[in-house]
Amino acid sequence: MQNKLNFIDILGQNPDSRRKEDPSSFEYTLPAEITNIYQLTTNEKLYQIQIIDPGQRNRFSFRPGQFVMLELPGIGEAPFSISSSPVRRGDLELCIRAVGNLTNFLARLERGARVGISGPFGTSFPLEKMQGQDILLIGGGLGIVPLRSPLLSVLENRSKYGRVDIMYGAKSPAELLFTYQYEEWRRFDINLGITVDRADTSWQGRTGLITELLQERISQATSLRENTYAIVCGPPVMFHFVCKMLTEAGLPMQKMFVSLERRMHCGRGKCCRCNIGSTYTCLDGPVFDYWSVMNLKEAI
Ligand SMILES: Cc1cc2nc3c(=O)[nH]c(=O)nc-3n(C[C@H](O)[C@H](O)[C@H](O)COP(=O)(O)OP(=O)(O)OC[C@H]3O[C@@H](n4cnc5c(N)ncnc54)[C@H](O)[C@@H]3O)c2cc1C
Ligand code: FES
Repeated sequence: MQNKLNFIDILGQNPDSRRKEDPSSFEYTLPAEITNIYQLTTNEKLYQIQIIDPGQRNRFSFRPGQFVMLELPGIGEAPFSISSSPVRRGDLELCIRAVGNLTNFLARLERGARVGISGPFGTSFPLEKMQGQDILLIGGGLGIVPLRSPLLSVLENRSKYGRVDIMYGAKSPAELLFTYQYEEWRRFDINLGITVDRADTSWQGRTGLITELLQERISQATSLRENTYAIVCGPPVMFHFVCKMLTEAGLPMQKMFVSLERRMHCGRGKCCRCNIGSTYTCLDGPVFDYWSVMNLKEAI
C-alpha cells in the first residue's frame, strides 16, 4: 500500500520534472491512469489505460504491432504490446501476465492507479500492404496479445481485406485469452480456429497443436493463394514449425510477419540487451518479416 501511494504521488505531483522538452523524445513519459482491470485468466489481466491529459491522449497514436514501456515509478519499466485498436489512440489496452517484479506489483494495483506510458516504440505489421489480401493470424499462448491489435484494425475495415483466419492455441482451456470476444469476431466473417494442448472435462472444442489447424487450412486449397499474408506470434518453437509449414505451402517469406519478444531493458536502443548482432529488436523490431529473421542468427 505504501508503495502504491508513493508512486501515485511521484507522477501526480511532479510529472514535468521527468520529461524532456521534445514530445517525441524517447524520455517522454506520459502520466496515465488504469481505468479498468479485467482478470482474463489466473495469471493474465487486461488493463485499460488512459493517458490523462486530453491533448496528449489525442496526439498519441500507434500502429498495430508496436509496444509501449509501462513505468511504475520506484519499481521500474517494462515493454508491453499494445493490444487494442489503433483507432482508440491514447486509450490503450495491455494484456499482462504476472511473472516477476514489475508485473506482480502491477497485478496488485487497482482501478485509478497512476502509471507512466512512453512510446509507442518499434516496428508494426504492414496492414496497408495487406489490404485486398487474405490474412492468417496465428497465435500461441500470450502471442494472441500482439495479434489482437492488427485483428481489431482489420475488423474495423473488414471490407478492405479478403478471407481472414485466426488460429489460436493455448496449453489448456483455462489459459485461453479473450474468450468473451470470440463470438463477436466470428460475426465479422472471421474463420476462428481454437485449439488447446490438454482438454479438461468442460472443454468441447479441439485438442491438438496449432500446426494441425494450419494443416487443415492449407490442405483446403493444397497451397496458399498468392494473395495471402501471415502474422505469427508465439513461443519460438511455434514460429519454427508454423513458418516452415507456411513456406512449404508456398507463402513467400516476405509475406510472413513475426513479432519477436526478446528480453529488453530500455526498449529504446540504449542498453544493448536486445540486439542480435547489429539488429536491435527494440528498434528494428519487434515486428520482422520472416525473411529478415531467417538471416538473423539465433533470432528464433
Ligand atoms: C516487445 C515486447 C512486448 C511484450 N509484450 C508483452 C505483453 O503484451 N504482455 C506481457 O505479459 N508481457 C509482454 N512482454 C514481456 C514483458 O515485458 C515481461 O514479462 C516483463 O518485462 C517482465 O517484467 P517483470 O519485472 O515482472 O519480470 P522480471 O522480474 O524481470 O522477470 C521474471 C521472469 O520473466 C522472465 N522474462 C522477463 N521478460 C521476459 C521476456 N521479454 N521474454 C521472456 N521472459 C521474460 C524472466 O526471465 C524471469 O524468469 C513483452 C516483451 C517484449 C520485449
Ligand atoms: S532494449 Fe535496450 S537496446 Fe534494445
